[in-house]
Amino acid sequence: MRRYLVAGNWKLNMGPAAGRELAAAVGERLRGRTLHGDVLVCPPFVTIPAVATVAQGDPVLLGAQNCAAHEQGAFTGEVAPGMLKEAGVQYVIIGHSERRQYYGETDDDFAAKIELVHAQGMKAIFCYGELLADRKGGRAEDVVRAQLKGVLPRLQSPNAYNLVLAYEPVWAIGTGETATPEIAQQMHAFSRELVSGMLGAEVAANMRILYGGSCKPGNARELIGLPDVDGGLIGGAALKAEDFVGIVDGAEAVLG
Ligand code: 13P
Repeated sequence: MRRYLVAGNWKLNMGPAAGRELAAAVGERLRGRTLHGDVLVCPPFVTIPAVATVAQGDPVLLGAQNCAAHEQGAFTGEVAPGMLKEAGVQYVIIGHSERRQYYGETDDDFAAKIELVHAQGMKAIFCYGELLADRKGGRAEDVVRAQLKGVLPRLQSPNAYNLVLAYEPVWAIGTGETATPEIAQQMHAFSRELVSGMLGAEVAANMRILYGGSCKPGNARELIGLPDVDGGLIGGAALKAEDFVGIVDGAEAVLG
């Protein structure tokens, strides 16, 4: 039985003061509850220390949205995986479509970053997913295959413990348009099959594959309840404690 993960990707929102408030509000709503899965928030780098202090004692894990592909050196503006680890980070999102699209990050970057995240004993959430044009052109599966193939087989020791996948169809991110349950299940099952071919059947059976893209309290239950969906990577709805916890409630209802 895979443990669900509901992860909030705060993107470029929430400075330290607002982030502390949001994390406190999420923590307050979850405190004392027995959760059957994991809940994670991924604030911007500068907000991580504020959230780390607030989240202590609450069942809320701490993540980052990106990291450098190097541990140290002359890389102005970067933040090393080891620094994140020191700040209390347990998960790092790698390969988000916004990193691909706006910062030109490639498979080489993702593989290097995930290796360093693993070397620090942290877990990586590797994101992938097709563009609208890919889907319309009937290439969704080809794109997803290439994205997973470009990274997973190059990793030293990927397993279901240190790696989480997040299928995020780009056409569903921030658009209010959610993948239908049919599309989500089909793409997740297809992803799991690919993982099985690359990393073995046992790793594939245990690996958590999250869905991301306009996930909200109103659709969380249906999406996260799908056989091959193991949680959500949440953007907009993670910025309101009530909505984010509503999604956790949805996960608890179907996987708790
Ligand atoms: P939205 O939930 O805002 O569509 O964003 C999804 C996402 O990109 C999470 O990483």
